[in-house]
Amino acid sequence: MAIRIGGFLLLFSAFFAFSVAISFSPADEYLVDCGSVVDSTVDNRRFIGDDSPSNVILFSSEGSIITLQSENPAPNLLPQIYKTARVFTRQAKYEFNVADKGTLMVRLHFHRFNSSRIDFSDAQFHVTVNGYVVLSNFSGHDDDDDDDSPASSGPRVREFLIWVDVGKVVIRFVPSKDSNFAFVNAIEVISAPKDLIADVATSVSNDGTEQFSGLVRQALEVVYRVNVGGKKVTPFNDTLWRTWVPDETFLKVADASQKVYFSGRIKYRLGGATREVGPDNVYNTARVVKSNSGSVSRVNMTWELPVSSGYKYLIRLHFCDIASMSIGMLYFNIYINGNLAYQDLDISDATNYVLASPYYIDFVVDDESSASSSSSSSSSGLISVSVGPSSKSVEHAVDAILNGIEIMKMNNTMGSLDGFVSTEMILNRCPNRRNLSLFMSMVAFMCILLSVYIVIQRRKAKDGFGWLRLSDNAPEDNNSKTADRVGSEFAVKL
Ligand SMILES: *[C@@H]1O[C@H](CO)[C@@H](O)[C@H](O)[C@H]1NC(C)=O
Ligand SMILES: *[C@@H]1O[C@H](CO)[C@@H](O)[C@H](O)[C@H]1NC(C)=O
Ligand SMILES: *[C@@H]1O[C@H](CO)[C@@H](O)[C@H](O)[C@H]1NC(C)=O
Ligand SMILES: *[C@@H]1O[C@H](CO)[C@@H](O)[C@H](O)[C@H]1NC(C)=O
Ligand SMILES: *[C@@H]1O[C@H](CO)[C@@H](O)[C@H](O)[C@H]1NC(C)=O
Repeated sequence: MAIRIGGFLLLFSAFFAFSVAISFSPADEYLVDCGSVVDSTVDNRRFIGDDSPSNVILFSSEGSIITLQSENPAPNLLPQIYKTARVFTRQAKYEFNVADKGTLMVRLHFHRFNSSRIDFSDAQFHVTVNGYVVLSNFSGHDDDDDDDSPASSGPRVREFLIWVDVGKVVIRFVPSKDSNFAFVNAIEVISAPKDLIADVATSVSNDGTEQFSGLVRQALEVVYRVNVGGKKVTPFNDTLWRTWVPDETFLKVADASQKVYFSGRIKYRLGGATREVGPDNVYNTARVVKSNSGSVSRVNMTWELPVSSGYKYLIRLHFCDIASMSIGMLYFNIYINGNLAYQDLDISDATNYVLASPYYIDFVVDDESSASSSSSSSSSGLISVSVGPSSKSVEHAVDAILNGIEIMKMNNTMGSLDGFVSTEMILNRCPNRRNLSLFMSMVAFMCILLSVYIVIQRRKAKDGFGWLRLSDNAPEDNNSKTADRVGSEFAVKL
């Protein structure tokens, strides 16, 4: 039942060449408007309707699939992709062929719109991507959205970075229970630039720092993208169609810091952060602490970001010295969860002595450690990021800077980003398999009936010995096997 996407790629490349003339062009890019008969364009990007008769079908489902149209949608407030959805009452999957192995960005869009055909309070499902559990018991909005107020019922976008070397991306939707359904409004599958995720990072804990390697092979979920000191960056203005949010809600002590804005050109260098790693709009704003009245300031800037405990996190910090008057003036320390993560960062040295040149550092933390230090609550932890003066900081200069924060959750040992559950457990528990096992038990039951019938026949012939022997050896934990053995041994004896 695998689906083939032959001409789709060709079809898409035509649209793609037309819509994005700038820099990065991914090897593979699929934009799907689920449940739609027509294509829709969002920010110059064309999403192909998966219900369009002219298109190759992208999905396969073992149960009923409904295409759903939003009733009385708020006119023009939301992009077209949020006005249709595809609903799965049974397990279903989308398959996308990818040419190159590497990291793929997978974005899933969910919007619980008003519909008289479906009650979205029955939406509860799991999503897996290439064997990783990316969402479990998901309802299409956040867990803490109890009410259905318009503010909490807006679209949700979940983004994952998945290493693929099998040549395709398989996204499965599995309703939690028979009475539940799964849905999705739009899907993006895009090959990431080769340099987006590096394999090695610095792991930070109470015991100090050490090297962490094997990063590219982890499934990652983007939890935060923060444009420090700046405005929200929308997909329209981002090189990889990402969203970056302002930092105010995460900044702990605001009065010590100062926002800076740079109107000059950001100098991307070969070997430094590329424009795909972070766009101009992220690097041309920052927050700084400055020396005041001629002495080095004695304050850290700290951001606190809530995360769920029990996972490792990749923390990417973006720097671009847009605030110093000259090179060689900015040295600072970086702390993660209160632990020294980088001492005396010399940003000029890191950027080959070019001002306004972007640079980033990847750190890895285990939230188990931060949960114990901040509070005993097991359900939610906190990642804190601080930058502050180092012993090398100089007077009359900037003492610390930060331009952006990205936080990505890593899959746990079960291969899951959402709970202690594996893809196997989810697929074995899904309704279709249950039907299959029901079928198996019925077969087993009939075998037993048949055996019992034969036994009775043989008892009538006054020969009960064979039955007793078989009964003693038969394992009790597996009905169908028992039945098989009873059946077959009897057949031999007969
Ligand atoms: C759904 O309908 C209710 C009233 O029928 C309305 O108040 C609400 O705003 C609608 N929600 C959306 C997302 O359109
Ligand atoms: C989903 O939630 C139910 C209870 O509501 C729980 O029993 C089950 O383990 C959860 N499944 C997953 C995959 O998290
Ligand atoms: C894109 O960025 C420019 C310059 O920062 C801004 O004026 C514009 O409003 C942004 N557009 C969107 C759609 O975010
Ligand atoms: C910044 O925070 C770190 C870790 O909490 C602490 O060790 C250091 O003394 C702080 N620096 C200043 C200047 O407060
Ligand atoms: C993520 O899953 C892979 C298996 O796909 C596993 O090798 C790896 O250890 C997991 N990551 C973590 C941090 O447990």
